[in-house]
Amino acid sequence: MHKDVERILVGEEELDSIVTRLAAEIDRDYAGEDKRLVLVCILKGSIVFMGDLMKKLTVPCEIDCMKVSSYGAGTTSTGSINIHLDLVRQDLDSCDIVIVEDIIDSGNTLSYLVDYLRLKGAKSVRTCTLLDKPSRRKVEFVPDYRGKEIPDEFVVGYGLDYAEKYRDLPYVGVLSPSVYAE
Ligand code: IMP
Ligand code: MG
Repeated sequence: MHKDVERILVGEEELDSIVTRLAAEIDRDYAGEDKRLVLVCILKGSIVFMGDLMKKLTVPCEIDCMKVSSYGAGTTSTGSINIHLDLVRQDLDSCDIVIVEDIIDSGNTLSYLVDYLRLKGAKSVRTCTLLDKPSRRKVEFVPDYRGKEIPDEFVVGYGLDYAEKYRDLPYVGVLSPSVYAE
């Protein structure tokens, strides 16, 4: 285990079974001939999750990426989101989008993005999150596909970072509070 990780919260085997279950749920819902599944990875935290998820899907999918951040993180509660990388598609009206997110905290990012992509004209928009911290919500938000509910602790690994570190860990672990204090 990494020295900065206090304990492992979701190990490799559990991650694998969570992702297998989520892929089966998406398979079931997007099997129709009339569906055109487009997974939208929210960079950078969702990159590992998205890679594993798409490999386990049996329905055909296309992929795309967006990069977003919250305005004035921690200081404002406007819920506004800064879009650093947008979707560039002329065919959104034929896309059944599933936004793939690493973790839901306040709910601001996903509630904004769902509205944004619907307004941009997507045929349908759903959300899939690996982790969910429901006790931290500032806006009501329920994802369509949810991997695991976790307590209010700061986690890293499997794509999730602290100051751009730890994304490469193969498990999700609780970051030692001593790391913030440094
Ligand atoms: P929300 O808009 O508050 O729901 O923000 C969710 C985003 O906050 C995620 O995409 C992560 O980038 C970040 N985040 C929230 N909790 C954690 C955590 O425990 N570890 C790492 N990143 C987190
Ligand atoms: Mg993120």
